Amino acid sequence: MAKYRIAWLPGDGIGKDVLDAAKIVLDAIKLDAECVYGDVGWEFWKSEGNALPDRTLEILKSTDCCLYGANTSKPKEETEKELNSELTGKGYVYRSPILRIRQDFKLHTCIRPCKAYKGNPLNYRDDIDLVIFRENTEGLYCGVEYYPLPSELMSTLSKHPRMQGFADISPEDIALSCRIITRKGAQGIAKQAFEYAKRYSKKSVTIVEKANVLRETSGLMLREARKIAQEYPGLELREANIDAMCMWLVRNPQDYEVLLCSNLFGDIISDLAAGLTGGLGFASSANIGDNYALFEPSHGSAPKYAGQYKVNPIASLLAVKLMLDYLGEDTLATRLEEAIAKVIEERKVATYDFGGEASTLDVAREVVRNIAI
Ligand code: IPM
Ligand code: MN
Repeated sequence: MAKYRIAWLPGDGIGKDVLDAAKIVLDAIKLDAECVYGDVGWEFWKSEGNALPDRTLEILKSTDCCLYGANTSKPKEETEKELNSELTGKGYVYRSPILRIRQDFKLHTCIRPCKAYKGNPLNYRDDIDLVIFRENTEGLYCGVEYYPLPSELMSTLSKHPRMQGFADISPEDIALSCRIITRKGAQGIAKQAFEYAKRYSKKSVTIVEKANVLRETSGLMLREARKIAQEYPGLELREANIDAMCMWLVRNPQDYEVLLCSNLFGDIISDLAAGLTGGLGFASSANIGDNYALFEPSHGSAPKYAGQYKVNPIASLLAVKLMLDYLGEDTLATRLEEAIAKVIEERKVATYDFGGEASTLDVAREVVRNIAI
């Protein structure tokens, strides 16, 4: 039996292209792993009314971790339109598979490194090296949303003085998305960020919230982070508002090491930070829970490039690196990252976004050629 079982979920769009590249690398480093393919994505929504079929959930449950490609999500109206006509009107409701896995498997910690690899001409600056810790299951992603607003909810909310401004609006003209933050969630993500900062000898953790306006939810994030910071006397807790942070990241990104955010702020800021270090073709993420983890490139499914083996696989190869870290395969992780760094620096084999004409798989093969055995 192989040492590790990895759920292999390419999803749709370019998901397959980039996971094929990841496979080339995994085979070359001879990781003692069995990869178990699972169906996921838009195709299964259309044909089965479920983008994450139960058989795939079983695969996830029987594996150590998952490597995920990408999946397509569309706005509500299109989602319903594309469902197989035999299934329409039968109560099927689309749920994004990646969000579902994060939530159902309690993958509370999302880690997104944004590093300016040496010699990458797409770097905004060459001295950026930051990591985003994003709470991954709560906040505005909790999925508690209403439209129209049920009348009992409307009457409960009406007790809040600030609801007076909405008193004469009818339920059909109002939508509500809840931002739920728990103390456990706030503490957990802060703890992870500080532990990481300590382990990698960083000097600071910056919490990025908006506690001056979102006094309760961002307030809870901030208060818990301050408490956790007390346990780490060698580390400074810096505090920033999300809007100001967007400006500071453009002005002085080199000043930041570890960013700590709730779900949506972490989502937004991680795209900004990716843009400073080469774009989404270079951005990977780890989704980690107490018993399971999923690794993925941060980019979407880019359907127009699907199957063309044109897109940059570096993000998915860096996701493999994060998976090796998680599995405790430190030597392999370091060697893989060094090889990726070398391929970026040399830029002899590069995809179009990186000024070249090489294919997705060519880049993976070039990484393999550079791995020190
Ligand atoms: C990400 C993506 C997802 C998110 C989408 C695909 C639901 O943007 O991983 O950052 O919003 O979290
Ligand atoms: Mn995102």
